[in-house]
Amino acid sequence: SSFVHQLADEHLSDAELLADPAEKIAKVGGTRHPSIPLPIDLFGADRRNSTGIDLQDPPLLEEVVKTVSKLPFTPGKAVAPDVGAAVERAQAAFPAWAATPVDERAACLERLADLLEAQRGELMAIAVQEAKKTIPDALGEVREAVDFCRYYAARARDGLMPIELPGPTGERNVLRMEGKGVWATIAPWNFPLAIFLGQTVAALVAGNTVIAKPAPQTPAIAGWAVGLAQEAGIPDDALILLPGGPEVGAAIVADPRVAGIAFTGSTATAKKIARSLLDDDARPLVPLIAETGGINAMIVDSTALPEQVVQDVVTSAFRSAGQRCSALRVLLLQEEIAERTLEMLSGAMDSLIVGDPADPRTDVGPVIDGSAFTRLMDYRQTMRAHWVKTVDAPTEGFFVPPTVIRLNDLSELNQEWFGPLLHVATWKAGELEETVARVNAKGFGLTMGLHSRIARAAETVEALSRVGNLYVNRSMIGAIVGSQPFGGEGLSGTGPKAGGPHYLHRFTAERVTSTDT
Ligand code: SER
Repeated sequence: SSFVHQLADEHLSDAELLADPAEKIAKVGGTRHPSIPLPIDLFGADRRNSTGIDLQDPPLLEEVVKTVSKLPFTPGKAVAPDVGAAVERAQAAFPAWAATPVDERAACLERLADLLEAQRGELMAIAVQEAKKTIPDALGEVREAVDFCRYYAARARDGLMPIELPGPTGERNVLRMEGKGVWATIAPWNFPLAIFLGQTVAALVAGNTVIAKPAPQTPAIAGWAVGLAQEAGIPDDALILLPGGPEVGAAIVADPRVAGIAFTGSTATAKKIARSLLDDDARPLVPLIAETGGINAMIVDSTALPEQVVQDVVTSAFRSAGQRCSALRVLLLQEEIAERTLEMLSGAMDSLIVGDPADPRTDVGPVIDGSAFTRLMDYRQTMRAHWVKTVDAPTEGFFVPPTVIRLNDLSELNQEWFGPLLHVATWKAGELEETVARVNAKGFGLTMGLHSRIARAAETVEALSRVGNLYVNRSMIGAIVGSQPFGGEGLSGTGPKAGGPHYLHRFTAERVTSTDT
């Protein structure tokens, strides 16, 4: 359909496409700490007042904010009053935005998609600099953001119109789907444009006003995107950017005027949010859409095509430095093929280029920041005796060498390691059902992969697995908006799935009017 793969005909072998971000990176980022002019200040005041944003490594909120003039608030300092004032503004903007026809709200998203496409190079440059995305990942990031805007605009046009429902003669029943009020959207750093905007434009097109909190590591791309949203016609106070750390997130969630929350991040934080929403007895019941992590497994049987398995494992486990919630965490090989598969995997890993994300040849960039680096490297070190394979990586910077770690049993892995560390275990022929059950027993349910040429194996895994996204004979990452609605169950999230046909409804209040005519 028309909204999906807007940019899919472009390829990274296209010299012009590569030249564009390369030139933009050179322009905005001649040094490693470039000064990127923001189209708005961080709180949506007059754009002419903004002087620029200094991207530090890691980007510190104070540094970012210092460079932006005439802020209405002091973010990160007097946290609670700032959040309160922002919610008040968003609440005041709600009636007018909610009364704006769905078609007009959808048109804003479509104009935003056009602007994102037009400024693809700048956005990619910020994603590379600030989120340390490789160039292919930065392109994917912009594509996904564009797809979310176009997809939700299309879904809103045909899914949020009032519906006439049946009734006896003389009675008229109409179902309306309307905005609930102020939504809070809390975004992760790993998709600082796509998920940040996806959650936000969904809430907006459904008729809500939004307080949008980017991850503390990635405020600049969010600031840029909010500037474009305003240019696309979304009123200033309908979308208020509130960057900050966990204290800011906690204050937003605790504000009783917030009518709904869309969160993407860790399971632990999702549970904290859920608890906080129940703290205040007087508060209305508030919907929470949470999308969290997973202990994602790929099951490979002896009929799988080895070359394809190896390629899909490398992509799923190491691309984006393993920093996708969909990424492969544990490879489960049927015993008979384990040694040969690992040998081939080792060979393939030798050609991985770990290095500067701004270099188009790079396969694996650094992880997001020092604390992620330390956590991953410490764990990797404790598993040293179990390494099957590791590769060279630069020693300056937060580069975690892609590493394969052997487990005796799946029971040894009980948490998500958010980086390029792949675990591997084996299973016995005839135990496919038990193997799926062992993965299910971890309690997560985000992605699962299966490589098998036996149709019955695919049917078995489809029937028994409890995951939101099952990938058969392909890689497990890179869900496409509208084709692979994304999100899990259990400890992995609440649903509804982002980029799917049921997502927008969760952001609305459903109201029925029954009239005796
Ligand atoms: N949507 C992303 C993916 O499918 C999630 O991490 O890879």
